[in-house]
Amino acid sequence: MKKSLSDRVTASYGRMTINDLRGITRKSSAEILEDIATVNGENPAFEGRRVSPVQSRSYLKSRGYKFPFKSVAFINLKGGVGKTVSAITLSTRAQQLGFQTALLDLDSQASSTLALDCRVSDDNLFFMDTWEDPAGLPEALVQVREGLFLLPSSLYNGMLDTVLNTPNRQKKAVSGSLMSLQNNKYDLAVIDCPPSLGTAVISTIAAVDTVVIPVTSDAFALHGLELTLGEIKAICSSFGVKKPQIKILFTKFDKRETLSSKTYEFLIMKYPKMLIPDPIPISTQFSKALDQNASIFETPGQYPAKKQYDLFIRNLLGLKEIL
Ligand SMILES: Nc1ncnc2c1ncn2[C@@H]1O[C@H](COP(=O)(O)OP(=O)(O)OP(=O)(O)O)[C@@H](O)[C@H]1O
Ligand SMILES: [Mg+2]
Repeated sequence: MKKSLSDRVTASYGRMTINDLRGITRKSSAEILEDIATVNGENPAFEGRRVSPVQSRSYLKSRGYKFPFKSVAFINLKGGVGKTVSAITLSTRAQQLGFQTALLDLDSQASSTLALDCRVSDDNLFFMDTWEDPAGLPEALVQVREGLFLLPSSLYNGMLDTVLNTPNRQKKAVSGSLMSLQNNKYDLAVIDCPPSLGTAVISTIAAVDTVVIPVTSDAFALHGLELTLGEIKAICSSFGVKKPQIKILFTKFDKRETLSSKTYEFLIMKYPKMLIPDPIPISTQFSKALDQNASIFETPGQYPAKKQYDLFIRNLLGLKEIL
């Protein structure tokens, strides 16, 4: 039985406003309302001008979007660069857009699990329990929003290195889990990784179609980037799997700091194809949102960091081209 947290999740958390859709479609609010009413046979205005994930999904489908299955992992062996924040931000935004989304928390520190206020008990199953028989994964997922399901984590996942101890197990653990999600009609799998290159991260690299490496202007974060890139190449070649698409996401960008600008220049010169051109600015809104167990897309306000994540996510999900 899927466990639901719906009593602790307000309906507005999982819903976009008409204004959010306006940003995507460049249509007027009235036109969007009319479109949605035509597609869904109901008017989102009755829900405080918020669009439900179901309404958004059928709207996007009516515009030709096919919701192809996608898997995205956030990896950098340096801590504190924004892996968890990015994973939560992507998951909650995708859920609002109508993607059936699964967020797999593979970090034994369980930051995503805590951030989404998922209080685990003895009944919960973790990746340690599901990797070997991924057919059981959907049953282990906890519903945290309408259309957003979380595989929680705990310190128990710290044992993964002892069980994912052969190349064959590493190759199959995450890829089997993704296949199970795809078979169960999920559109998007998001993986929040620990700040290491342990076996769970190796397994993730061998399985996902996109790896996003968040970096900051910190020298260690850049070193983490180099090591992660080297590791991706080595793992994919030794496992004989296709290399994932790699994207570098510059987070906590502070335009007042020379170091931020210098790092940006370095990254754009060295990794012109991998670097996402618009960095995510530093903002206090992330910690404010986390304080409410929410993402920045679930708390009010328009500011540059939100705009840049929105752009990044639309590009990542292939929504920019069709809307
Ligand atoms: N753009 C940003 N502006 C300001 N603060 C941010 C930004 N992105 C993330 N943070 C903050 O930085 C801290 C670290 O972020 P996060 O937990 O996402 O990093 P992480 O890479 O997952 O760390 P770890 O490797 O320890 O899991 C958090 O307090 C988060 O709120
Ligand atoms: Mg984290």
